[in-house]
Amino acid sequence: MAGFRVAVAGATGLVGRTILQILEERAFPVAELVPLASPRSAGKKLSFGGEALQVSTLSGDSFDRCDLAFFSAGASVSREYSPIAARHCVYVIDNSSAFRMDPDVPLVVPEVNAHELNGYRGIVANPNCSTAQMVVALQPLHEAFGLQSVVVSTYQSVSGTGEKGIRALDHEVDTGSRSTESPYQHPIAFNALPQVGDFDTDGWAEEEKKMIDETRKIMNLPDLHVVPTTVRVPVRVGHSESVYLRFHREVDAAQARRTLSGAPGIVVFDEPATAKYPTALQCDGRDEVFVGRVRADPADNHALALWIVADNLRKGAATNAVQIAEAVTGTLARRERQEHYA
Ligand SMILES: NC(=O)c1ccc[n+]([C@@H]2O[C@H](COP(=O)([O-])OP(=O)(O)OC[C@H]3O[C@@H](n4cnc5c(N)ncnc54)[C@H](OP(=O)(O)O)[C@@H]3O)[C@@H](O)[C@H]2O)c1
Repeated sequence: MAGFRVAVAGATGLVGRTILQILEERAFPVAELVPLASPRSAGKKLSFGGEALQVSTLSGDSFDRCDLAFFSAGASVSREYSPIAARHCVYVIDNSSAFRMDPDVPLVVPEVNAHELNGYRGIVANPNCSTAQMVVALQPLHEAFGLQSVVVSTYQSVSGTGEKGIRALDHEVDTGSRSTESPYQHPIAFNALPQVGDFDTDGWAEEEKKMIDETRKIMNLPDLHVVPTTVRVPVRVGHSESVYLRFHREVDAAQARRTLSGAPGIVVFDEPATAKYPTALQCDGRDEVFVGRVRADPADNHALALWIVADNLRKGAATNAVQIAEAVTGTLARRERQEHYA
């Protein structure tokens, strides 16, 4: 059969199901798909390629004869099973935070640093959702104007917390009371929580530290000044970001819009007179990163404010992962694959 044997660990989750959908949409050459999850889901059926595939329990034996494995089952599962998968598969694309800051593991957003995949094989890390969409917009502006600093506030949807986030929001909206299983510290319906992940002793949230570290690694700017405030809002899908950027060179809004319009993976949606700007609902189900509200700072001709929105399950996770798979498998000759299994 032509194509790859592809395992998806966490196939029943929000990201895993979106990976299956995107593999189909983009006609990725899948010869056989192996859906994996926890024992809770064993025997469950997932639809792929017109067939109902039975979900198996993830184990050390799950990856025999696989070419490629996607992981979206949380960091502890990735830490345990990704290295096992990497011994069987040519490529492992990991959506969790387990390996993102490992200096030997490339952390890739193809629009920014696909070159790091050249000749590489093994575990590739997929970034955190709020970082992935932001760097797609930052990279072309950096190339044009030289990025100096980033101040960002996020408005992150509950699907960023997985199924349990959506369930908590739905429960609170439907019943008017808090769910005992809510992953949040406060009510999420009709609220905004300036906490995404646990705080460290200095008061920085886990998501804020990820945005700092991962932006620097992906853009290869180890000293970039990044100041995030990450906020969970009662939106089902789609992360929005209010971003203030300072550059080494002068910049104006028209130049910035032109730069962004010509850049890969970006849609500029910016006509203030007709209230045309990206919103989470408009971006739900889309693979691109949307940018609007581009404004020059009247007090600083080296600075810009803008608004960035993307579907966190797609560009923030599954689409980016499948783009990485396309990049790596496109460079993998059949002969090399045969050698891998020899
Ligand atoms: N949601 C986002 O926007 C987003 C963006 C970027 C990265 N990520 C990362 O992607 C991963 C999945 O997120 P999600 O939103 O899809 O979460 P989710 O909806 O809660 O799904 C979690 C998946 O992991 C599986 N799983 C949990 N424990 C397992 C175990 N011990 N062994 C095997 N499978 C196990 C679950 O299987 P069962 O159904 O059997 O429980 C389910 O398929 C996380 O690492 C997350 O940080 C998420």
